[in-house]
Amino acid sequence: MSSKQPESNPVHFYDEGERLPDQLPDSPFPIFIEWFDQAWAERLTPNANSMTVSTLHSDGMPDARVVLCKLIDPQPGSVVFYTNYNGDKGRQLDAVPFVSASFHWDFYERQVRIRGPVVKTTEAESDAYFASRGLESRLGSWISDQSRPIESRDALMEKVAGVMEKLGLDAAALMSGDEIVIPRPPHWGGYRIHAQSVELWVGGVGRIHDRARWDRELTKAGDGFTYGAWSSTRLQP
Ligand SMILES: Cc1cc2nc3c(=O)[nH]c(=O)nc-3n(C[C@H](O)[C@H](O)[C@H](O)COP(=O)(O)O)c2cc1C
Repeated sequence: MSSKQPESNPVHFYDEGERLPDQLPDSPFPIFIEWFDQAWAERLTPNANSMTVSTLHSDGMPDARVVLCKLIDPQPGSVVFYTNYNGDKGRQLDAVPFVSASFHWDFYERQVRIRGPVVKTTEAESDAYFASRGLESRLGSWISDQSRPIESRDALMEKVAGVMEKLGLDAAALMSGDEIVIPRPPHWGGYRIHAQSVELWVGGVGRIHDRARWDRELTKAGDGFTYGAWSSTRLQP
C-alpha cells in the first residue's frame, strides 16, 4: 500500500468487468454451471469443485468444512457430495438435514452460495459413484471412522493393514492386474443438497460487487421435494 496521493480525482467506481445480467435469468443454475465448468476446465486451482459446507452442530454453533462437489443437477437444481454418514457432518445432518454451501473461485472473483435441505442419494447412485473412485479412495472409505479420535498415526496405518487383510487384498492380489472389486461401505454415500436459495456474487471495483439471490419454496413430497418457481432479487454488496 502506498502513502503517495494520486494527483487527480482518485475516486472512480467505474463499472467495468464482469456483471450479472441486468435482467436476472429465471434460474441461477445456468450461470452457476457456466462458472463451475469454466473453473473446472481451466483448473487454476486443483480442487475447483471444492465447496465449504456448513451444518449445525448439536451445541448450536455452525460447523463448516470443505468437501468436493461431484454433481450439479440443473433440473430441478441440486448439488451432490459424498462422505461418511457416521462422521460429525453425517450425524449433524441426521439431526438437522439442512446445509449452507459455498463455492469461491478467487481468480474469477466469483462466489456461489447455496442453502437448502439435504437428502441422502439413492443406494444405486452412491454405488455408481463409489465404483468410479480410485482404489485408495475406496479403501479409505473402509478404513476411516471419520471424525472419531485415534491415538496415533501409526494406529491409523495399522487399520489400513487390517482392512486390506479383511478384504483379502495382499500384495499378490494388488500386483495381479485383476480388477479389484471393493463393495461400498454401508456408512458411506452421498447427500443431495436441494437448492432453496442460491446467491451469485461477482467482485467489483471499490467493493461495489454485484450480487443477486434466487429463492423458491420447496415442499416435501415422498423422498424428494416439489419446487416452486424461483424469484430473484439484486442485493447491495
Ligand atoms: C479439498 C478438500 C476436499 C475434501 N473433500 C471431502 C469430501 O468430498 N468428502 C468428505 O467427507 N470430506 C472431504 N474433505 C475433508 C473434510 O473437509 C472434513 O475433514 C471431513 O469430511 C470430516 O468432516 P466432519 O468431521 O465435519 O464430518 C475434504 C477436504 C479438503 C481440504
